[in-house]
Amino acid sequence: MTYFFETYGCQMNSAESAALALVLRERGWSAVENGESADLTILNTCSVRQTAEQRVFGRLAQYQSLKKKRRSLGQPFTLIVAGCMAERLGEGLKEKFDAVDYVMGTASRSVFPAILETLEKGQGPDLRSDDSITAILTGEKPQFSFSSSHLEEGRFRSFVPIMHGCNNYCSYCIVPYVRGREISRSPASIAEEIRLLSDRGVREITLLGQNVNSYRFEDGERAPVDFPALLELVAHETESSPIRWVRFLSSHPKDLSSQAIRVMAEHPVFCRHLHLCVQHGSNAVLNAMNRRYTRERYLELVDEIRQAMPDISLSTDFLVGFPGETEEDLELTLDLMERVKFHYAYMYHYNPREGTAAYDFPGRVGEELKRNRLARVIALQKKHTQELLKRRVGSRETILIEGISRKNADELIGRTERDEMVAVPGTTSAIGSFAQVSLSSLRGNTFRAKELCETPFRFD
Ligand code: SF4
Ligand code: F3S
Repeated sequence: MTYFFETYGCQMNSAESAALALVLRERGWSAVENGESADLTILNTCSVRQTAEQRVFGRLAQYQSLKKKRRSLGQPFTLIVAGCMAERLGEGLKEKFDAVDYVMGTASRSVFPAILETLEKGQGPDLRSDDSITAILTGEKPQFSFSSSHLEEGRFRSFVPIMHGCNNYCSYCIVPYVRGREISRSPASIAEEIRLLSDRGVREITLLGQNVNSYRFEDGERAPVDFPALLELVAHETESSPIRWVRFLSSHPKDLSSQAIRVMAEHPVFCRHLHLCVQHGSNAVLNAMNRRYTRERYLELVDEIRQAMPDISLSTDFLVGFPGETEEDLELTLDLMERVKFHYAYMYHYNPREGTAAYDFPGRVGEELKRNRLARVIALQKKHTQELLKRRVGSRETILIEGISRKNADELIGRTERDEMVAVPGTTSAIGSFAQVSLSSLRGNTFRAKELCETPFRFD
């Protein structure tokens, strides 16, 4: 039997799709290239913006007609809506879209094997009558449980979720409402996944959570494990392992501690790159966003990080045009950018999200003004990115080769530990290996490089 995933949203969803795909493969299912030809299609959805949900509604309408066609041909077709929209809209999705067979929120993922069992028994496309599944779905809301592995087939990099949910309630964000309160995964389960990934020859992992810095695992028997302690454990687990690079996402400035910075600096396995969302440079806006740090604290943190790791690259997120934002507030953001000089940034303008606190805030900024302010932030960031990257031409770097360049089949694309893209001549056999290169020039935001060794090397 065959399956297809359509995954939207953040890395958490990608990791969860990879974990579900693993369950399917272990049961003998095989992946196909599109949802139209699959026996089972899973839409793993995101609720972060209204537009993200609209897109999925559009896809569901398409699947609606596909299902009709498949039914008329006597071919079974099962559709599962998973992820954050499933969590937010629940069974209502089935009422709205007849094509949807199951709605599987992030916490009710435990139902997945039961669904597969029903399909494997050939009980046809109308599976809603299956009592055992209905009982699980309508019973007491289950606790979220972590999958044991999130490795995508044939990959040499993997996400390792360490937390689920978020307690922060930033006033613009829907995530805490759809993902629930923070749950930390046990260190034993994280260590076990790392060992499994090492056995598979994985080279790079990214520890994932909405707010990794507030990781805290308590089981009542032993001393609690916090994020710095977890980093120590990860450093220990990856010693003499093929995993040579470890990243973590997302870091919240209010929770990033000096101990975490110290542990990161002490262990070279942690990549010299940190994504530290600032969102805005004005205290008034940060306060309205409920971010619970000030620009001064953020700048202090940047100093501390750079003192501990002078060669680190920093990236961030900016959200401009928040209700009540003034011209002075925007100037403060541009000023913060000048002071920090981020390697890159994800930049957005505010869009009201129903169900969040900021939806009712007064002082919405007009569309044109929002766009104009965002354009100013983007222009400054582009300038900084170029300045920083140009300074790096001529340096020697280790890169992890990720794949073939989309623009030139004779070129490979790799990434430095600072999260910079590098194009280097080579053949596909090098994919998944580290290489030492010299950055010879810059085109756009991608370096061109020459390899320094004849063959890609391995650390181990
Ligand atoms: Fe949303 Fe804030 Fe939590 Fe990030 S930290 S997921 S922005 S509430
Ligand atoms: Fe979207 Fe859910 Fe991630 S709302 S951004 S998929 S946590």
